[in-house]
Amino acid sequence: MPKLAIHGGSPAKTKPFPVWPIFDERERQALNEVLESRVWWRTPGTKTLAFEREFAAYHEAKHGIAVTNGTHALEVALAAMGIGSGDEVIVPNATFVATASAVLFAGALPVLVDVRADSYCIDPELAEAAITENTKAIIAVHMGGRPADLDQLTAVAEKHGLMLLEDAAHAHGSEWHGRKIGTFGVGGTFSFQASKTMTAGEGGMVISNDDDFERLARATHDCGRLPGKWFYDHFVYGSNYRLSEWQGAVLLAQLSRLDEQTARRHANGRLLDRLLSDIPGITPQSHDSRITRNGQYAYIFHYDKRAFAGVDTERFVEALEAEGIPTQAPYPPLHQLDVFTSGAYRDRLSGAQAGASHNFLNDAFPNAQREAWETVWITQNALLGDEEDMREIADAIVKIGENARDLL
Ligand SMILES: Cc1ncc(COP(=O)(O)O)c(C=O)c1O
Repeated sequence: MPKLAIHGGSPAKTKPFPVWPIFDERERQALNEVLESRVWWRTPGTKTLAFEREFAAYHEAKHGIAVTNGTHALEVALAAMGIGSGDEVIVPNATFVATASAVLFAGALPVLVDVRADSYCIDPELAEAAITENTKAIIAVHMGGRPADLDQLTAVAEKHGLMLLEDAAHAHGSEWHGRKIGTFGVGGTFSFQASKTMTAGEGGMVISNDDDFERLARATHDCGRLPGKWFYDHFVYGSNYRLSEWQGAVLLAQLSRLDEQTARRHANGRLLDRLLSDIPGITPQSHDSRITRNGQYAYIFHYDKRAFAGVDTERFVEALEAEGIPTQAPYPPLHQLDVFTSGAYRDRLSGAQAGASHNFLNDAFPNAQREAWETVWITQNALLGDEEDMREIADAIVKIGENARDLL
């Protein structure tokens, strides 16, 4: 039996995975054009404007507003939705903190609900059960690029007259029933931070088909201005969330590869589904026929240590990394973050809401716990490899399984 790499054996993975981020002459030329043009600012520029239009069109959306990052995209969207003090917004408990912190930034309460055990996306039934008279919106997170159940979420939102916002920070190019995610509700938000499937180091986008929402979101992101109006007219409260021309130029180039890269990540994801389903103790994040494309920000699987001699997830991940398979950490449940356990989040709230009991914070959230401590996330660059690369990922896991006792 070959020795585990963590104990000095040869790694299962020999050929390196594609290195992220990927760039070529397209990015170089785009940056040079901005440099030479001396138009480095978005307002008179053409690159960020073109990027907004192309990214929105790619996602079958009427409008796109480029912003500084994915957190700000959520803040701008929530402002355009009119979310404010006293409001409640239902948020999955398994996500990056930004999904909830943007709600707090608006002065509203993020009401955390558990995710589904198989998809790690918000459970629509629990979301419905959490609705109160103060609920204004639900945020769906497409975890790892896998769309949340948009059939059920749109039905719940419609039934209760709530807004649905898609946090699509992981889901560039993902599809549900053949339609790109991001406009199933009032809008969608994206991140172009370094680890995402297209990047300028930082960056974000809000997309929508709703003209009123778009008008407010655009004004919010540009100091309260409205397009075509005098520069020093400020119509609503706003701030400066504008993306620079440098980033717009790089992202236009990145967008030119997105479709082909997403197709590859999706195909490799489904191949991994087949390969890993055969390994005892490994259960891939669920996929179903309604998901016509998974943008695959990560490849997520559940790890059952009982099939690996009781070796805990952390040790398994160390062994997997040593075999040459890159991973990234899952999110801890939000209710266990200091900002919630210490009560610091209450500083963002006002009136009766600030002093209320928020009993949901005492829930057990079994599936968010499962996501946090029992899943393994393979980074998206690995999914840009070929079929042999996917087989080597499976081989590495099988190898660890066969040698699991050595890890105890
Ligand atoms: C689900 C989710 N929402 C929002 C964000 C925030 O994006 P950014 O880091 O660009 O602010 C992230 C970033 O990782 C994320 O994973």
